[in-house]
Amino acid sequence: MSTTRNRLFLSDNTAGAPPEVVAAVAAAAGEQSAPYGSDRFTDSLRGRLAAVFEREVAVFPVSTGTIANSLGLAALVPPWGSVLCHPESHINLDECGAPEAFTGGAKLVGVPGADCRVDPGALREAVRRGAGDAHSVQPSALSLSQATEVGTAYSAAQVRELAGIAKEAGLAVHVDGARFANAVAHLGASPAELTWKAGVDVLSFGATKNGTMTADAIVCFDGAAAEQLAFRVKRAGQLASKMRFHSAQLDAYLADDLWLRLARRSNGTAARLAGGFKAAGIELLAEPQANILFATLPDRVRDGLLAAGFAFHHDRWAPGVARFVTSFAHTDDDIDELIATVERA
Ligand SMILES: Cc1ncc(COP(=O)(O)O)c(C=O)c1O
Repeated sequence: MSTTRNRLFLSDNTAGAPPEVVAAVAAAAGEQSAPYGSDRFTDSLRGRLAAVFEREVAVFPVSTGTIANSLGLAALVPPWGSVLCHPESHINLDECGAPEAFTGGAKLVGVPGADCRVDPGALREAVRRGAGDAHSVQPSALSLSQATEVGTAYSAAQVRELAGIAKEAGLAVHVDGARFANAVAHLGASPAELTWKAGVDVLSFGATKNGTMTADAIVCFDGAAAEQLAFRVKRAGQLASKMRFHSAQLDAYLADDLWLRLARRSNGTAARLAGGFKAAGIELLAEPQANILFATLPDRVRDGLLAAGFAFHHDRWAPGVARFVTSFAHTDDDIDELIATVERA
């Protein structure tokens, strides 16, 4: 076994890929197939997602989470619409205006809430703001990040409540599931209860952070949105002619619950890290429910970790605040080495 420690905590996309996913790509490379998704890997992927979500779903394999979010929202929102989302959400801060571009100019409107979760009271006000007024964008969709950008998760009841407020006002519901697997693994709720049964129309499934190499997927529960997506995906240059390579990755990722096993691993190392930080007297901003952890580090601890070769984002959100993201590629020993370095500092 390798004794090289994994000291990268910048994001979960620092991880490589599990052997099952690599083997599936190699298998796809060893055969010829019809293009554009008419292949056995894409067929199998559709079947697996139907089983995961306990119903037929429309599936669009794409190459990034950003395009999954942008096209998913574009299928739900008119150019004069608005997307209600948490101010700290990835679609609002970290996608370079892609959701605005692909929706044809819809506006992203921040709806605050503690621990990066949209607050129901604030949402009730936001769904009414400007509705019917030709001078204002029209509230058209709610977008939730599951898990959130600070590593908290929405329970099925919380998704139901927020989606209910949105639906009652005529809005559609989108979920950015870049870390959906981590949320499912933490909550123990079924993927169906967390999505369509709670009122979600479109889900960015999220896979690159938790095991695929280059593939993500839009999972669509709404027929009208699915009809549009077939065209929007091609128009965005996301209808891969060799879709089978995306699909092979996603298919292997879902087989035998690999996606959940990997997410349990990264959730577990995040929990171990949280325990180690607390034992060392380091303050956490929130108890992690997924694989993201924010902590306030004294300068000497931050500098000690950096000098030892640990990589993580820091002092970006507030002075002294550092973010650690664990992946399926971290081991308990990697975490223990980090904590030992903290204790020495
Ligand atoms: C919450 C969230 N959503 C979406 C994305 C977008 O993923 P990608 O980098 O594949 O576009 C990320 C990536 O960091 C993310 O953290």
